[in-house]
Amino acid sequence: MARIIGSIATSHTPTIGFAHDFKSKDDPVWGPIFAAYEPIKAWINEKKPDVFFVIYNDHITSFFFDHYSAFALGIGNDYAVADEGGGARDLPPLKGQAALAQHIGASLMAEEFDMSFFQNRALDHGCFSPLSMFAPRDNGAWTVPVIPLQVGVLQFPVPSALRCWKLGQALRRAIESYPEDLKVVIIATGGLSHQVHGERAGFNNTAWDMEFLDLFEKDPEKLTKLTHADYATRGGMEGSEVIMWLIMRGAMNARVKKLHQTHYLPSMTSIATAVYENAEDVTPSPEAIAAQRQQIGYQLAGAEKLEGTYPYTLQRSVKAHRINRFLHDLVYPAHREAFLADEDAEYEKAGLSPEERDLIRRRDWRGLIHYGAIFFVLEKLGAVTGVSNLHIYAAMRGQSLEDFQKTRNAPGALYSVAGKAAGQQSWDQPAKS
Ligand code: FE2
Repeated sequence: MARIIGSIATSHTPTIGFAHDFKSKDDPVWGPIFAAYEPIKAWINEKKPDVFFVIYNDHITSFFFDHYSAFALGIGNDYAVADEGGGARDLPPLKGQAALAQHIGASLMAEEFDMSFFQNRALDHGCFSPLSMFAPRDNGAWTVPVIPLQVGVLQFPVPSALRCWKLGQALRRAIESYPEDLKVVIIATGGLSHQVHGERAGFNNTAWDMEFLDLFEKDPEKLTKLTHADYATRGGMEGSEVIMWLIMRGAMNARVKKLHQTHYLPSMTSIATAVYENAEDVTPSPEAIAAQRQQIGYQLAGAEKLEGTYPYTLQRSVKAHRINRFLHDLVYPAHREAFLADEDAEYEKAGLSPEERDLIRRRDWRGLIHYGAIFFVLEKLGAVTGVSNLHIYAAMRGQSLEDFQKTRNAPGALYSVAGKAAGQQSWDQPAKS
């Protein structure tokens, strides 16, 4: 079974990444930042974790207000460094731990946390700033895969401190119900006190930082009772992102051992680091693990017996992301015009595999579904290539259109999602008068 072997708390200010990339350990201003991470590196070296579960918030880099969500879990296989305006930092992409991430996602949903899920999205300084200081690398490449959890703390309403705490408790049950023996370290990022906007920009409160660190270790439930306004009053508006730490704390025992702690305020943000382990070993009973697994599978149990039915799961989503992306992008006029002009050139540009190209080229509607494409991108391909939805349904069933139409109440009905721009479809004859 997977288990949490300890946790790290760390600020994620860009200052840390800047220090890493441009400054030296011997510089009196920047040196304390490097020094703060030395014990963390040593601890990781000793513990040899298999996975980092990284809780962070994006700073309107890869997540924007066209679709903003509370808890977004990364379920993919890799995560590049985001360009935050001046070009991306010179760091390799992180590897994901997709299988455990997907299990955690399913477990949290089964406990009624309505998660959102992402893949193929770059991560910003919220994640990379601290990781660049302590995550192990070999020949430049990161050696420990990550599961990122992006928490939407920038557009109110945002999750409460209590909700973060409860999510952490559910996260522990999710990790501990994963069958593979994996050592997981939870990394909580953010804070401490700072404010970066408005006339109050530059606000800090070291006394509150110290009180927070103390409560976080010894009486974290007290922190779950504070409102966002309480956090903003004490630690600055942006400092209230520190509620993310409570996700990590909720996943730990009530009693923890603090192995390391630092606090340094060089400029705008109080940079804190800490390492915790559980004070005692609490392993869930085999019955509790079995019950959790049953709960995870409960909603879809039995669906596998439905003939010709393929629930669109996180696993399918990750496996078939590239082809779904390609077909989805037919919603953009430039892509569909290029596709109609030269399919092969578009396949090449998108890096589709030979199998994926073949499935689309042959309009193998059933094969596409088996491969992992979702129906709703097939109807886009149909709309672009002049094929009605009914043709696609019939083809998926392995029937002629005529035979399939006989099973409908209105056998003459043909339609697609094509708009006016697609022009007259060959199958769509004007109504006879
Ligand atoms: Fe942040």
